[in-house]
Amino acid sequence: MRKRLLGLIALFYIILNTTNAQPARSDSARMVWFDDAKFGIFIHWGIYSVKGVDESWSFFNGYTSHDSYLEQLKGFTASKYNPDSWANLIAESGARYAVLTSKHHDGVALWQVPDKGLNVVDNTPAGRNLIKPFVEAVRKKGIKVGLYYSLPDWSHPDYPLEARDTYRYKNDSLRFKKFLSIQRGQLMDLLTQFNPDLLWFDGDWEHSAKEWDASDIRKNLIEKSPNLIINSRLQGYGDYATPEQGLPVEKPKDRYWELCLTMNNSWGYQPTDNKYKSADQLIAILADCISMGGNLLLDIGPKEDGTIVKEQADILKDMGRWVKKHQKAIFGSRAGLPAGRFDGPTTFSSDGKTLYLFVPNHAYGWLPIKGLNKKITHVKLVGDGTNLDWYESGRAWWSETPGIYYIYLPESLRDSSMSVIAVHLK
Ligand code: GLC
Repeated sequence: MRKRLLGLIALFYIILNTTNAQPARSDSARMVWFDDAKFGIFIHWGIYSVKGVDESWSFFNGYTSHDSYLEQLKGFTASKYNPDSWANLIAESGARYAVLTSKHHDGVALWQVPDKGLNVVDNTPAGRNLIKPFVEAVRKKGIKVGLYYSLPDWSHPDYPLEARDTYRYKNDSLRFKKFLSIQRGQLMDLLTQFNPDLLWFDGDWEHSAKEWDASDIRKNLIEKSPNLIINSRLQGYGDYATPEQGLPVEKPKDRYWELCLTMNNSWGYQPTDNKYKSADQLIAILADCISMGGNLLLDIGPKEDGTIVKEQADILKDMGRWVKKHQKAIFGSRAGLPAGRFDGPTTFSSDGKTLYLFVPNHAYGWLPIKGLNKKITHVKLVGDGTNLDWYESGRAWWSETPGIYYIYLPESLRDSSMSVIAVHLK
């Protein structure tokens, strides 16, 4: 009798718990905003902007000593840091999310880490938390917040640095464990204090998933923040792929991906690097990314005082003009036609009823679309609304094979960067 009673109580307990259990958010539900956002701004801000050298890598690769690299701590002032003007600029660019480096491989955190490790509050003239005001300013504008976090910390005494010929230590699992628990503390603190929408890991290549305890990191983070999105650099435990610098030439296999890209050749502020891509080139790259179902995360590197140089601000503003005019074709869009069907990037609206053609400025006149096996109802120029002329040629009444559609873009109606045409389908 007692046994049966206990059994019944246990059964009740199980039923209660299963009905109360919070359904885990499916990956696709978590990824919705990211999938629709298409354009984000990456911000590399750290002490490397003082001398204008490579972030972290300059000492790792032996171009400068660790000591002289860290001297930059003394020059990092954030004296003109105005997060609202950053947020305004990001909003003006049309980007829907922004990712700030909370801590690069050099280990200098932009907030006061709970373990009292290197940070700009305690160790630089900036003397204050730089992440919080950023998060608040950006959120006010409706922009999603991402924080970059380097797994390796090349300045931490308990991190097994193996740069060039210098080994801090090798194969000391207890010491590495100590480091990992500090790291976990920092990560949880980032979530508690700033509640980011996205965590952008970097440097996972230095250790295996098992060594980092990557699956447990993920589990911990998602438990605390069920909507959090995590990039791929967590040794297989992320949500989306992050090709870097090289634009994929074929549609990546990953369902979600994001190209991270510098505006010139540097992530951080480097006054000697003037190799800026033009706004038009960047617009074309953005169009290529979304045409293949991905996002573009475009980087800026503020100066140590927190100002953003004119070259970078101008690029964002120029892109913003174009992005806003054509937002229908960008945000919430899905990958377009397979390569070879149209001479330019394309996207589909999420309901598949509109095909958007991105036409490089030098192209106009009769533009062919091949292999489109759907009937067109009408064609309009995006951001302008003009009806455009079109016809189908070469479709035989007895054949399933589509003909070629020709759409007429008058030279006078071209956008100065890239025109976008909405092809409405039956
Ligand atoms: C690289 C570099 C780093 C940069 C990052 C951005 O992995 O280590 O310096 O911050 O890419 O994608």
